[in-house]
Amino acid sequence: MADLSPIQTACLAALAAHFPSATYLAGADVPTRNEADTSFLPRVRPIALVRPDTPEGVADAMRICADHGVAVVPQGGLTGLAGGAHPIEGAVVLSLERLSGIEEIDAAAATMTVRAGTPLEVIQQAALEAGFFVPLDLGARGSCLIGGNLGTNAGGNRVIRYGMAREMVLGLEYVLADGTLVTSLNKMIKNNAGYDLKQLFIGSEGTLGIITRAVLRLQPRPGCTLAALCGVGSYEQVVSLLAASRRGLGPLLSAFEVMWPDYWREATETVKGIRKPIEGRHAFYVLLEVQGLSEDVDGPRFMEWLESQFAAGLIEDAAISQSMADVAMFWRTRDAAGEFQTVLGPHVAFDIGLPVARMDAFADVCRARLAEALPGMLSVYYGHIGDGNIHIVALQRGASPQPSAEISRIVYETVREFDGTISAEHGIGTVKKPYLSYTRSAGELALMATLKKALDPQGILNPGKVFDLPPA
Ligand code: LAC
Ligand code: ZN
Repeated sequence: MADLSPIQTACLAALAAHFPSATYLAGADVPTRNEADTSFLPRVRPIALVRPDTPEGVADAMRICADHGVAVVPQGGLTGLAGGAHPIEGAVVLSLERLSGIEEIDAAAATMTVRAGTPLEVIQQAALEAGFFVPLDLGARGSCLIGGNLGTNAGGNRVIRYGMAREMVLGLEYVLADGTLVTSLNKMIKNNAGYDLKQLFIGSEGTLGIITRAVLRLQPRPGCTLAALCGVGSYEQVVSLLAASRRGLGPLLSAFEVMWPDYWREATETVKGIRKPIEGRHAFYVLLEVQGLSEDVDGPRFMEWLESQFAAGLIEDAAISQSMADVAMFWRTRDAAGEFQTVLGPHVAFDIGLPVARMDAFADVCRARLAEALPGMLSVYYGHIGDGNIHIVALQRGASPQPSAEISRIVYETVREFDGTISAEHGIGTVKKPYLSYTRSAGELALMATLKKALDPQGILNPGKVFDLPPA
């Protein structure tokens, strides 16, 4: 770490004077875990770490940094794959980890008020215990924090039924770049009083404000959850099965995840402890989940629908859950993606969006281009096909460091040709920044810059994330 400038030294002295030692850490006291998120970028040591345990503490930290013009990088569970929470040189890291806990469950309004540093899984469990359901779910559920989920507008496994994180938020509290705390913990589903400002902060990756608390909309706890892991013979049949499941299962359908055979092989053979729900080789593996009101009614309905898909020739083979343990076992084949970091090592992770009908054609072109450009390439394809969102995990075997820029260029140029988006759910952070114009028009980029300059005129809130401001 370079020597501190006088202004940085003054800023750290002001933070140290304001906060107790558990809240403010500097120098060797900053834990190494705060040097990186999950995006495989080179580690950067923050000049200091502030971990307030109240919204007012977050506001105070931001105000002190703003007074000195020192940049702030907000951090949550550090599970982001795009570098949004990765530290930057010369910046203070503001972690929400100690601003944790559920403040209230309002059963009449069906809402839960949470602090930004609460782990997603804690929120899911608390909702279930109260007879409700928080549909947001993703592989990192045990470590990710709700503030980061909202800051990135996380997607995950049940978007097909419940939408993205954005759709689950009724109220929000956030800190602006100058340290102003804006509290709008609205619980009403309908509130059309002027601009819906919270939407600016959800998904802006900490570049416009720092989320401190949220009011989440609760769903009723499902009466039953059933799943099938299906082998399907062609991509056309996958698309037909998706349409048939929407038609035949209607609002019961809660997930439609597709795994290509290259993914299936790595997930069930390289990752340890994953049981294959079905044997045999299939062109595609589809994990279908329904959430119903009662097993007595919806169990037979689901079976009948599956049988009709067998009869129509859309399903070659299927394992059908007999218990919640089976449902969890099926999901482990899909959550195995979270282990790739450990078993495959550094790689480039993609969360692209594409027109559903063209996903397999895209995968073929992308795989071939990567293999042609870089010997020893492995690229595996899987994802939330029902949402038009496919993941790729790509790496050149034996390469260190990974040729990330070359891999990204090939994938994103192919995405552009196929009229897709470079990010369906993980956000832009720093790793996708060079490609934002592939997905957003010049008019959109100009408006983003206008908003950024209006809300953060000093450019101190997570600077250099999502996009770079054009020189003044
Ligand atoms: C998933 C995460 C990586 O769907 O988005 O596995
Ligand atoms: Zn995903």
